[in-house]
Amino acid sequence: MVMVKKRKGFLEWFDYWRRPNSDFEKNIFSPDGRVVLRVSLKQGHISYAVFKDNKTIVRESRLGVKVKGGEALGNYLRIIRTTEKAVDEEFETVWGEDRRIRNNYRELTLYLSEIAGDKRLFTLRFRVFSEGVAFRYELPPQPKFSRVVIEDELTEFNVDLNGNAWKIPAYQPDRYEYNYEKVPVYSLTESVHTPVTIVLPNEYYVSIHEAALYNYGEMTIKLDEWKALKSDITPLSDGNKAYVELPFSSPWRMIMIADEAIDLITNRMMLCLNEAPSGDFSWVKPIKFLGIWWAMYVGEWTWASGERHGATTEHAREYIDSCRRLGIQGLLLEGWNDGWDGDWLVNGEKSNFLKPADDLDMNFIANYAAQNGVEIVGHHETVGFVDNYEAQLEDAYKYYSSLGIKYIKPGYAGSMMMINGRKEYHHSQLGVLHYQHALELAAKYKICLDVHEPIKGTGIERTFPNLLTREGARGQEYEGGALSPSHACILPFTRLLSGAMDYTSGIFDVTNGTKRLASTLARQLAYYVTIPSGMQMVSDRPRFYEQEFPNAYRFIYDVPVNWERTVPLLGEIGQYYVVARQGRGVEDWFVGGVTNEESHKVRVMLDFLGEGEYVAEIYRDEESAHYRDNQLGIRIETTVVNRTNFLDIYMAPGGGFAIRLRAR
Ligand code: NOJ
Repeated sequence: MVMVKKRKGFLEWFDYWRRPNSDFEKNIFSPDGRVVLRVSLKQGHISYAVFKDNKTIVRESRLGVKVKGGEALGNYLRIIRTTEKAVDEEFETVWGEDRRIRNNYRELTLYLSEIAGDKRLFTLRFRVFSEGVAFRYELPPQPKFSRVVIEDELTEFNVDLNGNAWKIPAYQPDRYEYNYEKVPVYSLTESVHTPVTIVLPNEYYVSIHEAALYNYGEMTIKLDEWKALKSDITPLSDGNKAYVELPFSSPWRMIMIADEAIDLITNRMMLCLNEAPSGDFSWVKPIKFLGIWWAMYVGEWTWASGERHGATTEHAREYIDSCRRLGIQGLLLEGWNDGWDGDWLVNGEKSNFLKPADDLDMNFIANYAAQNGVEIVGHHETVGFVDNYEAQLEDAYKYYSSLGIKYIKPGYAGSMMMINGRKEYHHSQLGVLHYQHALELAAKYKICLDVHEPIKGTGIERTFPNLLTREGARGQEYEGGALSPSHACILPFTRLLSGAMDYTSGIFDVTNGTKRLASTLARQLAYYVTIPSGMQMVSDRPRFYEQEFPNAYRFIYDVPVNWERTVPLLGEIGQYYVVARQGRGVEDWFVGGVTNEESHKVRVMLDFLGEGEYVAEIYRDEESAHYRDNQLGIRIETTVVNRTNFLDIYMAPGGGFAIRLRAR
């Protein structure tokens, strides 16, 4: 047997060498000519490398896919055909950080075939943008090869091992909810989630991520035994990575490249690599929403039924009145349904998404909300019990639709999902399929989603814009000890590269004894600009906006949730971050800034403004403010500026600022 196998290998190579010009190498240049992707086929093995300004970004890296019952696809290859094209187009987003996005790239497609055996066909599509490179695997339909079990993906990203990465660990019980750590690339021996952002020794920044994740396990990455940084696709409970039918296209593997960290912020490759909307989504409306929520975190109310139950008819009615007075478009009702009693994290299978709690008159509240022009944001906490949820999903959407509910916050708080009676990772192929099914069904019922404990963002909101936001990182619920001010200075350069986040901003009760925030009051306003989200929570109890800090609340009232244009201004990962955004369809601009544990002074150049004068309404930390002992030290002032001016702003330790620039 062994002899036969060896002999077969020898013949394959012999056959390969007989072909003239089998080796191939091609450089594809980015539209601005600075980024080069080199694709090589050497002795039948396919690989790529990436350069910028002639400096190495990614050394020669292997490509390929290991499928069950055969050789890995990626070896013994020959090129059947290549095609090239250049694209330069613009598209409009339904909502988001920029109305218009330029999609400008050069594409090379290699149509490959194995030289021996079943001579399977295999296509690699590469796109080179001025902001980075992307590629994906495509498996065309072919005889004897129509259903495929993917055992491993062999993609490498051989960046310099002496680079430094901001990482969060994969395969952990709290999913993506970990503090980022800055570590050398050579220490990434355990899998990390993407986007993983890396500063290279040659001082370029890269962020490795994926776009258009459908019907496949999420890509995590780690060093393999040969010290290559390699994709590690999240396995299913049987150990396989994915079951797919041909034709099949993998998600895009994406390497964003920037000269400075701040240039990553407006890298729009991920959206460009997704498809245009799959239908009419003009009904999707980004909103701000209040919630029967933080009162539970500070122990005033409970999700469970009983004396302190939060989501009662009376409380919901009071909160709707507050929404009306505060000009907030939506109200989240958590703990509205049957299933929260006892240990809800264990009892998740009992969640009933069709039955309101006894002390909540859902019909009355839905009507009352409608009369007051307030949208209800319904809550579906599944605790990861997907089987239980899927069994009720369409009825649950129908029920909400019958009540006029157009927004849902689903949650998957368990450490694993329960799918088809087995424990699966949230970020496995079966997890991805569930999130997608829920999203598409929501679109059918014209429902928008704010997914908590989600699958990470890969830009699919371009195709399904009813995915208005997701959690997918530590948010403010971790305040009270587990969040440091640097976290919000890392997120823009890591997690937020994968899209909108519901950070649950706007908590004004920063000094609360049960949940004290590592934040000044002014910083809570900054988040509405630094952390974009199609659904922005106004997270605190209404009395803090109506009675305690009505002047600071004014900014939350004014700030939009949908943007015309985003202009990143200043930032160093983990230290500070300042960004300007223009409200969509309006003249006004908004600037937000946050700093870490250190104070920071920034000069905000206003040259992004249009012609004419603007009134700058500035919400900033007082000189004496501090996230530990003077959180409420806020100064609110106005001044008149134009585009030739600048503003010098002081951010206190753990502080920040927010500015509205109102056109005169
Ligand atoms: C965790 C979510 O992040 C939070 O927003 C929610 O309130 C709880 N799960 C309960 O569903």
